[in-house]
Amino acid sequence: MKRVHTFGVIAGLTFALLAVVLPAQAAETTPVVSAKQQKSVAFGKKLYLEKANCVFCHGWAADGRGHERSQVGAPSLRTTELDRETLEEVIRCGRPGTGMPFHDRFAYTDDRCYGSTREDMGKDLPPASDRGLQSREILSVIDYLEARIIGKPPITVAECVEFWGRHNTQCDEVATLEKQRAAQTN
Ligand code: HEC
Repeated sequence: MKRVHTFGVIAGLTFALLAVVLPAQAAETTPVVSAKQQKSVAFGKKLYLEKANCVFCHGWAADGRGHERSQVGAPSLRTTELDRETLEEVIRCGRPGTGMPFHDRFAYTDDRCYGSTREDMGKDLPPASDRGLQSREILSVIDYLEARIIGKPPITVAECVEFWGRHNTQCDEVATLEKQRAAQTN
C-alpha cells in the first residue's frame, strides 16, 4: 500500500511541475537547452538587472548604453569576444585599473584574483560591487549573457517590447537608434 501511495504522490508532483514548466517553455522565443538551463538564464537576467546592477554601467540591453551617471565607459557585452572562463574571471575579479568592479566578495583578500592581494594591486584595485555575487550566481549571469546577449545584433524594438513586457520609453530610444542605423546604411 505504501508503495502505491508514494507513486501517487510522485506522479502528482510530476504533473504539477509539468503544468508550471511547459507553458513557460512555450512562451520562450529563443530555443534553450533544458528547463534547468532556462531557469539559470532567467535567474541570471534578474541578477544582471537587480542584485549585481550590471545594468547601471552596461545598460539593460548590455550594449554599453548605461546610466548617464555611470560615466566609466563600460563596453557593449553584445560584441565581447571573451570565452566563458575569462568572463567568469572578469566578473569575479573585476578589471584592475578600470571601473569594472569585482563581484567575489573575497577577491584580493588572498591571491585568488590574478595572484594579487589588495596591497599588490595598490591604486589599480578595481572597485567592489555593492552586494557581491556567489559563484553559482556568476555562472547564471554568464548563462544569461551567452544565451541572450553575446554575439547578438543591436536590439530591435520587438525585442525591447519582449524584454520589458510592454512598449516603454526604452523602446522609443531603440526605435530612434534603429532609424539612425537605417539612415547610415542608406
Ligand atoms: C560600475 C560600472 C560597472 C558595473 C556595475 C559593471 N561593469 Fe562590467 N565593465 C565596466 C567597465 C568600465 C568595463 C571596461 C573595463 C576595461 O576597460 O577593460 C567593464 C568590462 C566588462 C567585461 C569585459 C568585456 C570585454 O570584452 O573585455 C565584462 C564581461 C563585464 N564588464 C561584465 C559585467 C557584468 C556581468 C556585470 C554585473 C555582474 C558588470 N560588468 C558590472 C563597468 C562596470
